[in-house]
Amino acid sequence: MELEGKAYPKLLVRPVVVVTTISERGVPNAAPFSFNSPISFEPALYGFSCNPAHDTWKNIRENGEFVVNVVGKDLGELMHVLETDYPYEESEIEHAGLTEEKAKAVKPPRIKEAMAWIECKLEKYVELGDHIWITGRVLAVGVKDEVWKKEGVIDVEKAKPLCHIAGEFFAVDMKEAKYKRA
Ligand SMILES: Cc1cc2nc3c(=O)[nH]c(=O)nc-3n(C[C@H](O)[C@H](O)[C@H](O)COP(=O)(O)O)c2cc1C
Repeated sequence: MELEGKAYPKLLVRPVVVVTTISERGVPNAAPFSFNSPISFEPALYGFSCNPAHDTWKNIRENGEFVVNVVGKDLGELMHVLETDYPYEESEIEHAGLTEEKAKAVKPPRIKEAMAWIECKLEKYVELGDHIWITGRVLAVGVKDEVWKKEGVIDVEKAKPLCHIAGEFFAVDMKEAKYKRA
């Protein structure tokens, strides 16, 4: 079946993160993102694509800091709350009943219920099409012990990562597979 060009993201199932930022007056903001990717190991760089109208971008442009909260299936039901366009400086974290936790290296809080967090400082941004590609330099990273395997990888069966297909469609309940390397 042939699709129109703009349908292509539906073919790429993507991990969901909730990006937390903070306004000039210190009010936190949270929003889900799935157009996101690791970019570089050294220096550690992370990127995501943000609609320029989003409060997330306004906050990052103003103070250059954000936290990428990696979330699981347990937060799936909250996506519709977190993606609601509340007035600026109305905290989605409160609306969703989530818990703020102090981050280590940046001012925006992280979300306690997330399985992992990546604290970033704005490195660079570029307007690409109808979005802004925001690149962050990773300043601190953490993961909950219970979802981290001794081999140094996420235990997907415990963590139950939440992935986005499109709109209300998500992919959950992954199984780990190990394939031989050359
Ligand atoms: C699962 C999911 C993934 C999303 N991914 C993106 C994304 O990658 N980029 C984007 O600009 N908006 C994305 N959105 C929409 C924003 O989260 C939504 O518009 C939100 O209200 C923006 O909030 P803000 O204005 O507080 O920043 C996504 C929404 C959901 C539910």
